[in-house]
Amino acid sequence: MGKIVISLMSFSVTLCSNAGYAQRTAFEPSHPWPDNNGVHINAHGGGVLSHEGAYYWFGEHKIQGRRGNTAQVGVHCYRSKDLYNWQDEGVALRVSDDPDSEIVRGCIIERPKVIYNPKTKKFVMWFHLELKGQGYTAARTAVAVSDNVVGPYTFLRSFRPNAGRLPINLRDEDLVPGPNNYFLRDMETGQMARDMTLFVDENGKAYHIAASEENYTLHISLLTDDFLDFSGLFSRVLIGKHREAPAICKRQGRYYLLTSGCTGWAPNAASYAAADSIFGPYETQGNPCQGFNPENNSGPDLTFGGQSTFILPVQGKTDAFIAMFDLWQPRNPIDGTYIWLPIEWGKDNRMTIRYREKWDLSVFERQ
Ligand code: DGJ
Repeated sequence: MGKIVISLMSFSVTLCSNAGYAQRTAFEPSHPWPDNNGVHINAHGGGVLSHEGAYYWFGEHKIQGRRGNTAQVGVHCYRSKDLYNWQDEGVALRVSDDPDSEIVRGCIIERPKVIYNPKTKKFVMWFHLELKGQGYTAARTAVAVSDNVVGPYTFLRSFRPNAGRLPINLRDEDLVPGPNNYFLRDMETGQMARDMTLFVDENGKAYHIAASEENYTLHISLLTDDFLDFSGLFSRVLIGKHREAPAICKRQGRYYLLTSGCTGWAPNAASYAAADSIFGPYETQGNPCQGFNPENNSGPDLTFGGQSTFILPVQGKTDAFIAMFDLWQPRNPIDGTYIWLPIEWGKDNRMTIRYREKWDLSVFERQ
């Protein structure tokens, strides 16, 4: 594909010469990914919802320059039937211009995920929210709802979850006060919730998975039946392991939780853990990445330059999952690209994510 890269001071946009015409038939990780208008897809830290024969990709809308690391627009949505070609559906959740709103322009909205509730027929979006001007100290989760998959979504509220609750896997030591017992510190006011994902199990129950306790421990929380609140049931997993960027899938009855280390926007090594119950315990399995990204000379120790955001089950295929990573560009966030790679499963149920410069869905036929 022919590309024209225009760079004007901090402004840089990639236009594609065949905008809107050529149908893509493959994934090209790390490269600009044009939508139906030829504009690089703007859905960072995203997740994908499959609904009625189409895929919907929701993610952070970024703008140019460092200011793009805060929410200036909101959550963007794209639609696809084949996963290669994405149609711009616009801004699904817009930031507010009301200075009293928790989602006022300039707050931080990260890692939005959307699930569908068949009982209420509502689309429910959860995301990590940081209040404007407070850096990453608020550590709140937030929820929005819509009758239409592409929005507009109505912001409902933000909060720190599981206030006053004990985890289902409580250990005696969790209630012993100490300088590093962040769980106990936050028990009354609610637990921190930063990098997050959502997961709907085969029985229709939905879970919120977030980095908590100063990012030292992940919390897996059952949502209420309408998906709009926390039920109060939660477990603490990967305790003290300091992981973030959670992404999860279920294969043959087992849960696989992919995470990154905590190094801000800089890449580090991924790791995955497996469990027989959604609530754990999760057993660490190691780094699933193999291979090398020639675009940035990064291998498995740096997750090819990316950070996990979601595991996408390919519809109509068994055991077919795409691991989605962001290749962040914090100096000019709109230029961040995406690394989507197929998950390979070994005979021993081990997960491998091999770097590929170009690939298509036929890889799943050969598994
Ligand atoms: C790492 C997180 O995974 C990102 O979502 C973002 O919060 C950055 N840290 C900010 O430094």
